[in-house]
Amino acid sequence: MVQEETIEELISESAIRKRVAALGQEINAAYAGKEIVLVGVLTGAVLFLSDLIRCIHIPIELDFVATSSYGQATRSSGEVRLLKDVSHPIQGKHVLLVEDIVDTGLTLRYLLETFQARHPASIACCVLLDKPSRRVTDVPLKFRGFEIEDRFVVGYGLDYAGRFRNLPYIGALRK
Ligand code: IMP
Repeated sequence: MVQEETIEELISESAIRKRVAALGQEINAAYAGKEIVLVGVLTGAVLFLSDLIRCIHIPIELDFVATSSYGQATRSSGEVRLLKDVSHPIQGKHVLLVEDIVDTGLTLRYLLETFQARHPASIACCVLLDKPSRRVTDVPLKFRGFEIEDRFVVGYGLDYAGRFRNLPYIGALRK
């Protein structure tokens, strides 16, 4: 299959499952007795978010935002735009931004600043993958799945030019 020839597996399906369950437990403990709004960043975080919420046992609401994507590129243009806002007010709520990957940090920095201005009770980030070597702005990551090296990764929701989101594992494009 073309997909498997061009992709090198980095994080297996079972490793993802275990880590996502552990993140769910961390979230349950951190927000015990509270209700949270999970805000998924479309489209990449959808698989992560849908697995994560099944490991969360405190009351939650779900909402989504969409930001400008890389399009056909594998490098960020540095400019972030909000393409879709949340559907409900977040004022006074405990908000957890759920993102597939933090790379330069510009997307999460922009979302944190935008939402902080709306006076939530608290706001924090949960990311599946962290590429710290590429960071240009510091972002606090309260919950983090895996740290990875500087490679362009696909699968488990992450795409390259719209492809590979359906892979059940995370892989890197072969050079
Ligand atoms: P940042 O603003 O540079 O932190 O990038 C965040 C967004 O870039 C993520 O939500 C992804 O959509 C995209 N992105 C960054 N690195 C990768 C990657 O390795 N594979 C796929 N998408 C990526």
